[in-house]
Order: sequence, then C-alpha cells, then structure tokens
Amino acid sequence: MIVLGIETSCDETAAAVVNSDRKILSESIYSQIKAHEEYLGVVPELAARSHIDHCSKVIKDAINKANLSIDQIDAIAATAGPGLLGGLLVGLTTAKAISLAAKKPFIAINHLDGHALTPRLSHKVEFPYLLLLISGGHSMFLAVEGPGQYKLLGQAIDDALGEAFDKTGRLLGLGYPGGPAIEKIAINGDPHRFILPHPLKGRNNCDFSFSGLKTAVRQTAEKLSPLSFKDREDIAASFQYTICKIIEERLKNAIQEYLIYHPNARRLAASGGVASNGMIRKTLQNIANKNNFNLFIPEPKLCTDNGAMIAWAGVEHRLLGHKSDYSFDVRSRWPLGENCYEF
Ligand code: KG4
Ligand code: ZN
Repeated sequence: MIVLGIETSCDETAAAVVNSDRKILSESIYSQIKAHEEYLGVVPELAARSHIDHCSKVIKDAINKANLSIDQIDAIAATAGPGLLGGLLVGLTTAKAISLAAKKPFIAINHLDGHALTPRLSHKVEFPYLLLLISGGHSMFLAVEGPGQYKLLGQAIDDALGEAFDKTGRLLGLGYPGGPAIEKIAINGDPHRFILPHPLKGRNNCDFSFSGLKTAVRQTAEKLSPLSFKDREDIAASFQYTICKIIEERLKNAIQEYLIYHPNARRLAASGGVASNGMIRKTLQNIANKNNFNLFIPEPKLCTDNGAMIAWAGVEHRLLGHKSDYSFDVRSRWPLGENCYEF
C-alpha cells in the first residue's frame, strides 16, 4: 500500500509518499519559519496564505521524487486537525480534490495520531507501547494500543512543553522557534547555576505543569537584567536540565501506570518536535535502560512536523479499511481517540 500524506496544520507545508513496508519513498517540506520569525511566533493568517502559495508545489515535488504516477498511489491522507484552521483547510481541501480527481480513497488524519504512530514508521515496534508525545501544543503520556486507540495516562495541565521552550526562547531573545535555539546555547551553559522549580514533583500521577517553571525563568532573567550571553547560556542549560529532571520524575509514574495495563510490553517511545532534543533523548534512554524498556524515538526530522507521519498514519488506517467522507471538515480541536472513520 502506498499513501500520499499532506500536513498543513501549523507552519510547515509538507507532503510525503510512504509505503506499508515502512519505507519513505519521498518527502518534501517548505518551512515558514522565516515568515513568522519577526513576530516571534506563528501568525495564523500568514501561515494560511503561505500554505496556499506552497501546497501544490510541495505535493507535486513529493509525487515526482517518489517516481510514481498518481495512479500508483493507493490513498490520499491529510491532517484535518487539531491545528490552525486556515492552514488545515488548504491541505484538506487539496487532498479531497486529488482524491476525487484520481478516484483514490481520502482519509482525514488527526495530527496527534500522526505523531503517535511515527515510532512505528521509524522502528519496527509493535502495539502496545508507552508514548511520551511532546510538541508545541501537547505534552502527554499515552498507552498506544492501535491506530486511533489510546489510553491517556497523563497530560499538561497548563502550557505544553514546546510552548515552554518557545516562551523561554523568546524571553532570552533567541527568536522563534525557541526549542532548537535553547538546545544550541545550552551546550556551553552551566545547568546547575540556577535552581528552578519542579512543578507537581511527588504527585501520584503523570501530569505535567510548566507554567510555574516558565515564570521562575522570567523572574531569574529579570533579576539579572541586562543579561550577558553567559547568563543566557546558563539559564538555557538550567531550564533544559530541569525539564529533563521533570520528565524523569513524571515518567516513573507513567511507567507504573502503563504496566498495570500492559505488564509484558516494556516498550517506550517518544515523538513530537521536543523529542528531537538531544538531552531529552539521552534522559529517556537512561530511564528505559534502568526500567528494562526498549526505547524507540524517530530521528529528529520525523519528530518535528512532517508529511511522512501523516502518510504513515494513512497507511495504518487504510490497512484497517478506514476512510473518510468528503464532508469531513477541519477541526481546531480533535481529542485523540475520538475516531470518525468509515469503512
Ligand atoms: O511537533 P512540532 O513540530 O509541532 C507541533 O505539533 O506543535 O513541535 C514544535 C515544537 C516547538 O515548540 C519547538 O520549539 C519544539 O517543538 N522543538 C524543540 C526542539 N526542536 C523543536 N524543543 C526542544 N529542543 C529541540 N531541539
Ligand atoms: Zn506536531
């Protein structure tokens, strides 16, 4: 089975062709970072216009690079939510048009489903597995039991982890997106110079809270103002170090809870843009080793938004016979596990 996937939920216009042997036949991506940089965040109207400008070219590019004609593609998948409605409309409507013209099934994909299933594209991992999904809009622990089948074990009660990285990056004058910039300058920083709070520590669950940490970073920066470059490096390193400690502590509870449901499936995975962070990846590897879990994290470019994850989610759903009606509309919110497929 070969699926074309289209992703336009935020600030990447991406398309890819993936087959059911877990092979990425082609990828094409246009990143809008430059357009949003000066506003220090994604501007929805600009994002939608940029998707209009680049969507067709990115899709054509993916199909050409795969060296296939549209007849050889079995289904068209596109992100329908959650995300920014203007951008979603561009990708979803284009997917419906291609599907109608090529007489191939169309399938609407939940962006989170895309992130959650990507470890099965990058690695041969079976269901079920414990997933840490950390992106710009979400932070959650899930037991992934099948395509569209999830048990939510814990989640952020305020800011998502990527949001905390982005806000901290903005505070340190590092521009948008903050995550990769913080990781870069943290390399030379002292992670122990600032002791930052660890919200929810000791709580008997695996929820996250990052807003108190974000406030503490702001207060630390205000006290030191004006910040030297060394101060910024040390704040970035202390912030990243604290995040890893928080993940370590919360993950202990998530593992316990997960094992109640799946005692014999010691598999841990991570996905979403923040899972491309090297220090977080190392932290997860240590915890997996200590707990006798196998760890599966896609390579960084499959952690951040991309077309292959949507094409792969399309493959997984099509293998179950799922498809969507053309009346399927975009959704700014779409909780995971709320499935709306037809057969
Ligand atoms: O999954 P993603 O590309 O888009 C969403 O679905 O939200 O995640 C984007 C988030 C941004 O907040 C970005 O700052 C963060 O992922 N991010 C990182 C890194 N690369 C991207 N955070 C920390 N370290 C990184 N290396
Ligand atoms: Zn994403």
